[in-house]
Amino acid sequence: MPCMESPSTLKQMRKVPRELARVKRSAELQLKTRLVGAANQADHELPDWLIADLRSNHAGEAGAVMIYRGILAVSKSSEVRAFALRHLETEQYHLQRITEAMPPNTETHLLGLWKIMGWLTGALPSLVGPHAVFATIEAVETFVDHHYQEQIVRLSEDGPFRGLRQLLLECQQDEVAHRDEAASLVVAKIGLLTRGWQWLVGIGSKGAVFIARKI
Ligand SMILES: [Fe+2]
Ligand SMILES: [Fe+2]
Repeated sequence: MPCMESPSTLKQMRKVPRELARVKRSAELQLKTRLVGAANQADHELPDWLIADLRSNHAGEAGAVMIYRGILAVSKSSEVRAFALRHLETEQYHLQRITEAMPPNTETHLLGLWKIMGWLTGALPSLVGPHAVFATIEAVETFVDHHYQEQIVRLSEDGPFRGLRQLLLECQQDEVAHRDEAASLVVAKIGLLTRGWQWLVGIGSKGAVFIARKI
């Protein structure tokens, strides 16, 4: 007699490959993080300007994690939620890696503020809809791409901070992929209001970096 599985059992069984892939990816990320952390330990005698850069990167990545948490707290769109979940995983990985590369006790004193600002940057456009969310991410990641590029050109390929340079390059590559994915999902024409919001997001990010570099 054929074995008849109940619908809920079948549903559970379908989840298994996805769950296995998620666990595998998480294990790979953890291993990679440990290796990069070890590679950067030799770089921990960092000049003040580089510590300031890292402080702004740490604040930015913590803010990025919160952007996606803000989106997930508000958006009901399955497309947006799947997008946010994938990006959230990458941003958590960036945050881990940047944290590993920082000397102890050098993070911004305003981390709570940047987290709130990040959450709002994700939650507010989610109230409007997918178009606004994707346009926001396009604006954020355009800024982050430039922010990392400015730092990468300051570091020499074979200098003492080449491990950090490589880390920034890898983060930048992910941010560019995020930007391009978001841009490809902005299907409607961007109106004046959305343009204004994108401008505000860019200026806000610039201001946050300026402050996070100092405190
Ligand atoms: Fe990131
Ligand atoms: Fe990103």
